[in-house]
Amino acid sequence: MTETILILNGPNLNLLGTRQPHIYGGETLADVEAQCRSLAAELGFAIDFRQSNREYEIIDAIHEYRITASGIIINPGAFTHTSVAILDALNACEVPVIECHISNVHRREEFRHYSYVSLRADGVLAGFGTHGYQLAIRHIAQLAKKETA
Ligand code: DQA
Repeated sequence: MTETILILNGPNLNLLGTRQPHIYGGETLADVEAQCRSLAAELGFAIDFRQSNREYEIIDAIHEYRITASGIIINPGAFTHTSVAILDALNACEVPVIECHISNVHRREEFRHYSYVSLRADGVLAGFGTHGYQLAIRHIAQLAKKETA
C-alpha cells in the first residue's frame, strides 16, 4: 500500500501567485501541488493536497489522517496565530506534523510571531518560500524510512 502524506493549506492560500507576490512569490498553489506530487512520487509516496478557507474542513482533514498518514504538512495560514481548535486536532495526531510557512513570519508583524500550531509541530519551516513544502516532504520520507528500517 502506498503511504500518503497529507499537505494541508489554510485560508487565502488558494490565492497564491496573485496575493502579495512580493511576500509569497509568483507560483500558484497548483504549481506547488505539482512540485509536491512529483517529488513525493520520486520518493515513493502519495500526496493528498488540500486547501480550505474553512477551519472545520482543516480540522476534519486532520482527523481523517491523524493515524494513517506518513505525516502531515500544514500551512495553516492566519489560523496559525489564532486557532486553538486546529492545535487540539493536531494534538490528537499520532503522526509527524510539520508546520510550513512560505514567508518568514518572524520578520513580519508581531501578531504573526506566535503560533498555536508550533506547540504541536515536530518541525517548523518559515521563509523558505514554496521550497519549504519540498523540504518537509523529504523530512517525512526520511522519518518513514527510518521507521521501516
Ligand atoms: C503564511 C503566514 C501567515 O502569517 C499568513 O496569515 C498566511 C501565510 C505563510 O505561508 O507565510 O496566510 O502561513
